Amino acid sequence: MARILITSALPYINGIKHLGNLAGSMLPADVYARFQRARGHETLYICATDEHGTPAELAAAAAGQDVETYCAEQHILQRDVAAAFGLSWDWFGRSSSPQNRKLTQHFAEVLEANGLIEERVDQMVYSIDDKRFLPDRYIEGTCPHCGFEKARGDQCDNCGNLLDPTDLKNAYSVISGSRNLEVRDTRHLYLLQTRMADRIRTWVDGHGDWPVLAKSIAYKFLDEGLIDRGITRDLAWGVPVVKDGAPRPGMEGKVFYVWFDAPIEYIAATQEWADAEEGRDWKRWWRTDAGAQDVRYVEFMGKDNVAFHTVSFPATILGSEEPWKSVDMLKAFNWLNWYGGKFSTSSKRGVFMDAALEILPPDFWRWYLTSNAPESSDTAFTWEMFASSVNRDLADVLGNFINRILKFTEGKFDGVVPEGGEPGPLEEKLFADVSARLADLAEQMDAIEVRKSAQALRALWVVGNEYLQEAAPWTAIKTDRDRAAVIVRTALNLAALYARISTPFIPFAAEKIAQAFSLEFPAAWPSNDAAVELSSLPTGLSVRAPEVLFKKIDEEMIAEWTARFGGAEEG
Ligand code: 2FM
Ligand code: ZN
Repeated sequence: MARILITSALPYINGIKHLGNLAGSMLPADVYARFQRARGHETLYICATDEHGTPAELAAAAAGQDVETYCAEQHILQRDVAAAFGLSWDWFGRSSSPQNRKLTQHFAEVLEANGLIEERVDQMVYSIDDKRFLPDRYIEGTCPHCGFEKARGDQCDNCGNLLDPTDLKNAYSVISGSRNLEVRDTRHLYLLQTRMADRIRTWVDGHGDWPVLAKSIAYKFLDEGLIDRGITRDLAWGVPVVKDGAPRPGMEGKVFYVWFDAPIEYIAATQEWADAEEGRDWKRWWRTDAGAQDVRYVEFMGKDNVAFHTVSFPATILGSEEPWKSVDMLKAFNWLNWYGGKFSTSSKRGVFMDAALEILPPDFWRWYLTSNAPESSDTAFTWEMFASSVNRDLADVLGNFINRILKFTEGKFDGVVPEGGEPGPLEEKLFADVSARLADLAEQMDAIEVRKSAQALRALWVVGNEYLQEAAPWTAIKTDRDRAAVIVRTALNLAALYARISTPFIPFAAEKIAQAFSLEFPAAWPSNDAAVELSSLPTGLSVRAPEVLFKKIDEEMIAEWTARFGGAEEG
């Protein structure tokens, strides 16, 4: 049985993530991890904060903190809010870890030894008063196209034109405001991706089973032609550039580019996990000479990350000529938008993970964001669609079924799974239907078809309601107690089955349902044989109705949240 290694794109350290980040990488990865664990696969789900680079430095400065303190605090905040969402990471690491520093330096060393790294001299803007080179985002000035006075060195936010810092008029340092700037020579390391283009293409060709979105982005970059890429920066915060264990002569005070060290952190975070407890072995997950040939490695990410994972990171891995595990399946997502526009961390636009949990329990979000995952196209979040989706699916379909059958059992059968009677034609039909649907659900889950999986799950919930409606135990009980017992027993088994198959999507509600039956949680994934699965609860078992599983969202709540978070008027 294959072992499953899962990573979700590493969230930037600069603040709690918004629902778009959650929907496009961490949440679907969690659903998949929970499913694979339930199926009995040994599974390792790894994530980490992406802590280096300009955004981290800028965010720390804006918070008035030194960057180490800022990152340490933000890491804990992100870890805790993720836990509250039920994200079941086996390890949530930090790209600023010693493990990642060492491994990043190691990769640079072997790539250079293999003739794939070379030093080049660039021209960059230097701030004389700040005594440092300024990355593009640290320079602002007047846009040569539209005259906007706060255009950034890389792009004008007013007219959208891409810029080079030297294009700006009246350029100044974002750090000090100083206009005392000049262009100076600076030495950097370049990864010679041009030399690896054919190897990377062959490697991508070998992954014909990737979803279209991932493949099309990979080929777009390959077809445009790979370029040699600068992998170092004139920054203080990051993995230092070294040679033979000492600062590299001529490159003192420089660090690796954040996109060079971030994906390496997938491996380093696994080392962090292994170092945290005796008996854990990271090599059997990542080294094909140490067992990782039996691993199926699945990556989850938004579409903006695909090029880095299909070209840049593979260049590092393949170029090393060492037996590292590379990705088997790359699941990419489109954007979840906020009404007509984008969620934005910098302008605080949309709902962020912490605020989301202030207004509703995690399962509401988990369900909406998976059943409406931005899989085949971008999708837009609106409060109306959100409310109608969770009200209908969670409250009316699942919640209603669980509540109805458990209340009925309490009222008419003293709250125990009743004995007596034999399944009849209605149950035979139900078993056949549920068996087919369970097979469909497992197939979609295996294929990481997130929306289709949610649809398949919902279809199973619907079947329960339909069965109850048709079998009508409340009528049967008046004349035929055995018949009513069969129906109630079958429906209770369905409810218990729902706890098991709903766990990946809505683990908190699933646990409450499991508790209603005193079942272990999380439980193993069921077989596709419904006749067996739906007669597994022992008769005589005491059950009790859980508190209301899903409270409905009403107009008033929508109005309140629209006022608080914005919404319709921005569309
Ligand atoms: O786009 C992002 O949010 C990046 N922080 C993702 C990094 S993924 C990995 F390579 F580290
Ligand atoms: Zn402009």
